[in-house]
Amino acid sequence: MNDNKWWKNAIIYQIYPKSFKDSNNDGIGDLKGIIEKLDYLSFLGVDAIWLSPIYDSPMEDNGYDVADYFKIAPIFGTMEDMDSLISEAKKRNIRIIMDLVANHTSKEHVWFKEACKSIDNPYHDYFYWSDKPDDKISDFCGSSWEYVESLNLYYYHYFAKGQVDLNWTNPKVRQEIANIINWWLDKGVAGFRMDAIELIGKELDKNIFANGPKIHDYLRELNENSFGKKKDSITVGEGWPTTKIAIEYTNPEHHELDMMFNFDLISHIWKNNDLEKFEPNIPNLIELKKIFARWQNDLKDKGWNTLFWENHDLARCISNFGNDRFYREESAKALAYMLYFQQGTPFIYQGQEIGMINAYYTKLSDYQDIDSINKYQDKVIDKKIVSSSRMLKGLQRGSRDNARTPIPWNDKENAGWNNGATPWLKIIPNYKEINIEKAIANKDSVLYTYKDIFKFRKESEYRDTIINGSYETYLDDDPYIYVYKRSYNDKSFIVVVNYDDDNHELDLNIDVSNIIMSSYKDSPSSTRKVILRPYEAIVYKIK
Ligand code: GLC
Ligand code: CA
Repeated sequence: MNDNKWWKNAIIYQIYPKSFKDSNNDGIGDLKGIIEKLDYLSFLGVDAIWLSPIYDSPMEDNGYDVADYFKIAPIFGTMEDMDSLISEAKKRNIRIIMDLVANHTSKEHVWFKEACKSIDNPYHDYFYWSDKPDDKISDFCGSSWEYVESLNLYYYHYFAKGQVDLNWTNPKVRQEIANIINWWLDKGVAGFRMDAIELIGKELDKNIFANGPKIHDYLRELNENSFGKKKDSITVGEGWPTTKIAIEYTNPEHHELDMMFNFDLISHIWKNNDLEKFEPNIPNLIELKKIFARWQNDLKDKGWNTLFWENHDLARCISNFGNDRFYREESAKALAYMLYFQQGTPFIYQGQEIGMINAYYTKLSDYQDIDSINKYQDKVIDKKIVSSSRMLKGLQRGSRDNARTPIPWNDKENAGWNNGATPWLKIIPNYKEINIEKAIANKDSVLYTYKDIFKFRKESEYRDTIINGSYETYLDDDPYIYVYKRSYNDKSFIVVVNYDDDNHELDLNIDVSNIIMSSYKDSPSSTRKVILRPYEAIVYKIK
């Protein structure tokens, strides 16, 4: 199955440009800032950057509302900057993956402006219209329908008012998207992360949103007309699939996408609470094991997995799944061991590699995210279903801004992120302790755990085991200790993690030879009746 694909063994690093590095001291991260830090990314072992949107945009949702797919947002730089980012990255063997926001455009896009001129305008059918809005609610609160006076009609938006859904039933829309993809591929980008792609087959009158009946036809057509022609391109879809659905999208014989993100962990977190992600329901280890096993086993030889803990929409993983107060570094390392020896393509999100934690802002005015602000308004002010203090606590757990704080590069003014201008989003107070310079200087830091794992995946004798090996688990009922084995031909290793803040005994009847890596020094050299310390994680070679 496609074993020669470069992305099966690539490390993909997500950059949220607004927060990565501000090169011209205007308080907003930019493309030149990314170029400045490419050497750092190659030091870390990154093969590709997934760049969150940098296109021209009114920034109602930080660029996920595109006004012009062929222009760079002035706050981020120019097309020349983009060209030099692509070529400078290439010099370091780093590919660029764009974020394709094709479920919707900004209401500032010329297509939409034209569409509002009259119902006969050739762009009118690029969007969804209704003269009788029903009760659909948008993802960022309020009705999904917005009135346009000039037409006496309502347009449909799944997300914010400024993010107007594109009508994929219109073949012209599908051709426009293929053109955008081809234009960027010609420029030298490697491929696309496809935003909210599962929604493009929606059938509004039937209340079908995700995974609509036509979606696979659309993706096959897009594949044929654009990225499918470039054999070494990469596509990764954003959606919330089950394993069965993920296989439909990613089975190579289907000619749709290379891989899909899997949000099973996150669906679990959002369940059973009034406040969903704002009062997260964190899975215990036994539940986590089941989720991991489902994805590792179901997709084996049928599709392809992505491995990720974080992105720009989620809380920091240590704050959700680890212990960010007392075992920040230990739990950060444990989480890395738990996931990144599995089968699939690893994605890491900026700052994850140094163990950044949630922002823990205390005031509503600290937040910039439209989702956080609208949900506060909706639940606290409009519907009065939660108190302000409960919601503020909730934002500390679930706001998307938790992962969007500017990257701390050192312990100087504004964390070395810029030269002192007020950042668009507050820098987190712990930057003197958690910053990239400090992490590089300390060989025991979280950063070296990531760096070592990446090296192991790509350069060790276990490279093929990582790509193709089987996934087998032990001690499935143990609530504290996670053990998985990867084997391929004659090469096997096991990963052992104590996922708890207490010591626990491991008693596993397997003959291990030496330790390949471990998160503590002097870890036990056997797995029989030994004590593992809090969050201790070890990879053993198997005889
Ligand atoms: C995706 C993006 C998110 C954005 C939304 C609408 O979920 O990751 O940041 O708000 O789509 O484009
Ligand atoms: Ca800037």
